Amino acid sequence: MDIFYEKLLRPLFFTQSAEAAHNHAVFALRLLGYLPPLKRLMEWRNLKPAHSKPLSLFGLNFPNAVGLAAGFDKNALCWQSAGALGFGHVEIGTITLHAQPGNPKPRVFRYPEQEAAVNRYGFPNDGAEALARRLARCPAKGRRRFPLGINIGKSKITPLEEAHEDYIGSFRLLADYADFMVVNISSPNTPGLRELQGADLLSGLLGALQAENRARATRLQVARVPILLKIAPDISFAQLDTILGIVTESGFDGIVATNTTVERPEGAEAMESTGGLSGRPLLEKALGIVRYIAHASGGKIPIIGSGGICHVKDAGRFMDEGASLVQLYTGMIFRGPFFPAEVARSLAWRQREWV
Ligand SMILES: Cc1cc2nc3c(=O)[nH]c(=O)nc-3n(C[C@H](O)[C@H](O)[C@H](O)COP(=O)(O)O)c2cc1C
Repeated sequence: MDIFYEKLLRPLFFTQSAEAAHNHAVFALRLLGYLPPLKRLMEWRNLKPAHSKPLSLFGLNFPNAVGLAAGFDKNALCWQSAGALGFGHVEIGTITLHAQPGNPKPRVFRYPEQEAAVNRYGFPNDGAEALARRLARCPAKGRRRFPLGINIGKSKITPLEEAHEDYIGSFRLLADYADFMVVNISSPNTPGLRELQGADLLSGLLGALQAENRARATRLQVARVPILLKIAPDISFAQLDTILGIVTESGFDGIVATNTTVERPEGAEAMESTGGLSGRPLLEKALGIVRYIAHASGGKIPIIGSGGICHVKDAGRFMDEGASLVQLYTGMIFRGPFFPAEVARSLAWRQREWV
C-alpha cells in the first residue's frame, strides 16, 4: 500500500500546493463519512489491530495508541472518518474564541527529501462558537468510536494579558464536546503565544482553566474534562522543570510533547525560515523532551508523544521513552493514508511482546 501511495498517488498530490493538497485530503475524508459501509469496513480493519490490548488513559478508552495530531482537522470537518485510517484518537483544532483567517498564503511548505514540512498557518478557524454548533450535530461523548481531543489557542486579536479570558471562553463553549482538551501555548505562528510558557503567565492560565473546569463539573454534576498542555520543543530543561511543576500543581492531566520547532536543521538554507518545522528533523528533539518529562516526573505525568514519526519504528521509540500515546501528522503526508494503521498494528505487536 505504501508503494501504491508513494509511486502513484503522492506524485499526483504533490503537483498541488501543500495547502490545496491538505484541503483535498480533508475533503476526501469528509466524503468517506458519506459512505458508511466503506467507512465501517475500514474501521473494522484498521481501528482495533489484532492482538491490541485496550488502552486506558485519563479515564478514557483508546482503541489503539496512535492519534491524529492537531492542525489537520482544524474545523472539525472530517474527524469522524479518521478511525477508518487507523487513528485511535483525533485532536481537532487549534480553535480560537474568535473566528480568524490565519496568515497570508502561501503558509505551508513540503520538503520531501527531508520528510519535513514548515507551516505558518496562524490558526485559521471558524471560531469556538461555530465549532460548538458543528460538534453538537456529531455523536456525543460516550457514543464515539474513539476519543476526541479539542485543542484551543489564543485568538490573534486578544492581547497576551487577556489570554485567560480568551482560553476560558473557548473552554466554556467546547467542554461539553471534548473527551479531552489540549491547551496550546506552543505554536510559533501566533505572535507572543510562546511567552505563555513563562512561569507567571502559565501558572495563572492553567490555574484559571482548571478552576473553570472544576466549577463546571460541580455545576453539572459531571466529571472534570481531562486537560493537557501542549508544549514546544524549543525550551531548556530548566524551563521544562518549571512547566512540569505548574502542570502538577494545577492538576493538569498530561502533556502533549511536542509542537513544531522554530529551529532548522543544518544545511536547510532552502527551507522557509518563518514558521514551525515538523516531520523527521523534529524527531530526536521531541524524543529528548519526552525522555526528560518521563524521568523528571518519575513517570507520573502522562505524555502524548508527537514530532517526526515518519517510520513505524519511530512510534515505538516514543513509547520506549515513556509516552503513553503518540500522534502524527507530517509522516502521513509522505507515507500516505495507510501509515497510521501500520503504526497502530506495529505498536499492538509490541504490546503483545510485553505480556
Ligand atoms: C500543517 C500543520 C499544521 C499544524 N497546525 C497545528 C495547530 O493548529 N495546532 C497545534 O497544536 N499543532 C499544529 N501542528 C503541529 C502538529 O500537531 C504536531 O504537533 C507537529 O507537527 C509534530 O508532529 P509531526 O512531525 O508528526 O507532524 C501543525 C502541524 C502541521 C504540519
